[in-house]
Amino acid sequence: MNDVILCAIETSCDETSVAFVRNGNELLSQVTQSQISAHQTYKGVMPELASRLHIQVISSVIQEALQQSKLTWNDVDAIAFTVGPGLVGSLHIGALAAKSLSYALDKPLIAVNHLAGHIHANAFVAPLEYPCLALVVSGGHTELVMMQGPLDFQIIAQTQDDAIGEAFDKVGRLLNLEYPAGPHIDKLAQSGQSNLPLPHLKLEANTFSYSGIKSHFNNLIYHANQRSEKLDINDVCASFQNIAIGQLINRLEHAIIQYQPKQVIVAGGVSANTYLRSECAKMMQQFPHIKLSVPPIAYCTDNAAMIGAAAYHMALAQQFSDLDVKVNPGLGL
Ligand code: KG4
Ligand code: ZN
Repeated sequence: MNDVILCAIETSCDETSVAFVRNGNELLSQVTQSQISAHQTYKGVMPELASRLHIQVISSVIQEALQQSKLTWNDVDAIAFTVGPGLVGSLHIGALAAKSLSYALDKPLIAVNHLAGHIHANAFVAPLEYPCLALVVSGGHTELVMMQGPLDFQIIAQTQDDAIGEAFDKVGRLLNLEYPAGPHIDKLAQSGQSNLPLPHLKLEANTFSYSGIKSHFNNLIYHANQRSEKLDINDVCASFQNIAIGQLINRLEHAIIQYQPKQVIVAGGVSANTYLRSECAKMMQQFPHIKLSVPPIAYCTDNAAMIGAAAYHMALAQQFSDLDVKVNPGLGL
C-alpha cells in the first residue's frame, strides 16, 4: 500500500501546532507554538486572546513544519485539522488555514475530533489493539471510551460536572499556582503525603465527579486561612491527587472487568500525570494479559501529531469533508 502523508493542524485551545505525519504513526515534523505564557496573567485561557495569537502565527508555523519535514506540498495527500471540541474562535483559525490549503492545493480535507486525536496519540507508541478501553482525561473531558475499531467510540462513563483537568487547574488557582496547574500539582505532590481529610463522594454508576472535590479543597484552604493555620502545600496536592486520581483508577478497574478489553490506553493532558501513570500501572498488574499504553509526555497535551494519527484512519476510510464543514466547539466522540 502507498504511504499516506498528512499535514495536520491543531488549534483547539492555546497551542498552535502543525505536524506532518506518515501512515498515522511516523512523525516527520512538528512545530508547536504555545500561548501559555500569554494566558498566565489571566490564570486561564482567554478565548479572544487565543484566537488572535493563533492568527498571528499559524502561517509561519505551517511553513516551518513543512520545511522541517523536508517534504513539498506535492508529497502531501490530505490536510487534517481539529474540528472540535474546543474554543470556537481558536478552532476557526485552524479550520480556515486547513480549508485554504485544501482549496489552493486541491487536496482532500479531513475534519478530526480532538478527543479521537488524544486517543490515537498512543499510535506513536504501538498500534492500538481492539477492543480497546480508553481513559480520556483532559482540561475539558473525563471519559471512559470503548473502541471496537479505530473510528468506533462508545462512551461508557463520563463526568457529571467538571473535568479532571479543570479540577487540577481550579485547585491550583486556590493554591496560587501558575496556569495550567496540573504539572505543578503533579510535582509538589511528589514531596507530600495524602494526610488531609478527604470528601466521601456518592457517585452514580458510570459517572465521574470533580466539583465536590474542588469545593472540599476550597473549604479546607479557606478554613485553614481563617484559623491562621498553615497547610503544607505538598500535602494538599498529594491529598487532592489521591482522591481525584483514585476515582479514575477505581472506575477504570471496574470497566476492565466488565468490558474485558485487549488494551487499555490513557489519553489527554492529564495522562502526563506521574501519579496517574504509576497508579494505572500498579492497578493493571492484576490484568497481565491486557496491554497498558500511555503516550510519551510530549504527546499527552495538545499537539498536531495526534490529529495526524487519527486522520490517517479517516483517510483510509475515505472520511473526507467538504470545504463548508463547520467547526463544532461542543463536539463529542
Ligand atoms: O489535553 P490538554 O492539553 O487540553 C485539553 O484538551 O483540555 O489538557 C490540558 C489539561 C490542563 O487542565 C492541565 O492542567 C492538565 O491537562 N495537565 C496535567 C498535567 N499536565 C497537564 N494534569 C495533571 N498532571 C500533569 N502532569
Ligand atoms: Zn486536548
